[in-house]
Amino acid sequence: MEKTQKKGTVKFFNGKQIPLEMHKVRIVQSLKLVPIERRLEAINDAGFNSFLLGTKDIFLDMLTDSGTNAMSDEQLSKMFVADDAYAGSQSFVKFQKSVEVVFGKKLILPVHQGRAAENIISQTFVKKGSVIPMNYHFTTTLAHIQLNGGKVVELYTPEAMKIKSTHPFKGNIDINRLDELIKKEGVENVPFIRMEASTNLIGGQPFSMANLKEVRRIADKHKVITVLDASLIGENAFFIKKREEEYKDKSIGEILNEMCDLSDIVYFSGRKVSSSRGGAICTNSRDLYNKMKDLVPLYEGFLTYGGISIREIEAMTVGLYETLEEDVVGQSPSFINYAAIELDKLGIPVIMPGGALGCHVDAKQFLSHVPQSEYPAGALVAAFYLISGVRGMERGTMSSIRDEQGNDILADLELMRLAFPRRVFTLSQVEYLIDRLNWLYHNRELVGGIKFYEEPPVLRFFTGRCKPVSNWPEILVAKFRADFGDSL
Ligand code: F0G
Repeated sequence: MEKTQKKGTVKFFNGKQIPLEMHKVRIVQSLKLVPIERRLEAINDAGFNSFLLGTKDIFLDMLTDSGTNAMSDEQLSKMFVADDAYAGSQSFVKFQKSVEVVFGKKLILPVHQGRAAENIISQTFVKKGSVIPMNYHFTTTLAHIQLNGGKVVELYTPEAMKIKSTHPFKGNIDINRLDELIKKEGVENVPFIRMEASTNLIGGQPFSMANLKEVRRIADKHKVITVLDASLIGENAFFIKKREEEYKDKSIGEILNEMCDLSDIVYFSGRKVSSSRGGAICTNSRDLYNKMKDLVPLYEGFLTYGGISIREIEAMTVGLYETLEEDVVGQSPSFINYAAIELDKLGIPVIMPGGALGCHVDAKQFLSHVPQSEYPAGALVAAFYLISGVRGMERGTMSSIRDEQGNDILADLELMRLAFPRRVFTLSQVEYLIDRLNWLYHNRELVGGIKFYEEPPVLRFFTGRCKPVSNWPEILVAKFRADFGDSL
């Protein structure tokens, strides 16, 4: 597939810095904004957990970009020409080719989604006592590594935890600490180093190519393999192009290839990177491939479909090629950047600079009167849904775990994540979000904490239920009505 690289940005005559969409919308889905009284019932029924809300009660669904990016006309049309077969499907051959072009890897194990890749990688390489250094964990990654008896050590830099910063690469790993950790633990206990592109849980912050090259140097020095979580690699490549001088004239494709070249195993969630569903593990090492391959038919499906519908494999293939386009991988970051700058102007604490995936509001500052034991990020997500109909996601202590004594392990950051799935929202919707968040900020002292009354032992944030520590939701609704009259 031939793709031309678009260069530069469009400047506005009026001087405004507005992200310009490089697509048009031709298929739409209607949205509804139910009244705040219904939203109060809905959030109560959902146990103050935004995962448990139904979309009929949601206006803007900013829970995630996972499986919710807008697909292109080319992606949709290719789904009709899928070669449905249990084994030997030619759709898979096309997919292999796309992975080779975009990521430079020849050996591909398909899996139904990203965490399935984590299951296979962890089962293959992690043992009791293993230590896995990484720039930052993702929830499902941590769960799979722990399930296999391993321990995660995060080696982020001090800049990563600064909410407001100008550092372009807050997702970098601390190279000296990485080197020391491997020496201390012994190379036999470090099965791999994991790098996550656009670190999800700390505000979608990228790492630099220079940092990844250093990781490679340390890995080669100790003879350890590296694993790259490429679920948000397109956006990370976009940031490298925009923020790392040496790469400003490189194409996104060249950057992607270089990132993958520096990594022994690359895995991804197709729900994110290719705006489809599905996922895969890729490598150029026959030895590594052979170590993992037998787990695919066991957990996923035969080696040419891996539990993914063949139609989605076709969509994934086109979606991967589209990842080569700067305006595709840059769409969500530019909207996020716009929202972050506007919110910051209003004094609302957001992660700066804007990263990938979503705009992240710092609940520790926003709700500084709510103690971490009462889940400020979870409370903020519930309160924001209530007053706007916008569904965000808690990325704080609720998404963390308890220690062996049953105490919450308090998260480093308490964030409300407002995801910007690619090409889904318009700027007027972003303006609505900014307006409502501004109102909530002015009324923040009315918001209280929440506590669990149903708490699953693993990945509790998905299905756990909470209740408010007081009647703050009713008070917030009354203030909303007083200020906005009969507005939805
Ligand atoms: N790795 C990263 C960096 C992710 O962001 C995700 C998913 C996964 C792995 C797991 O992939 O969902 O296909 O199994 N992130 C989603 C999110 C769920 O909302 O941030 P999956």
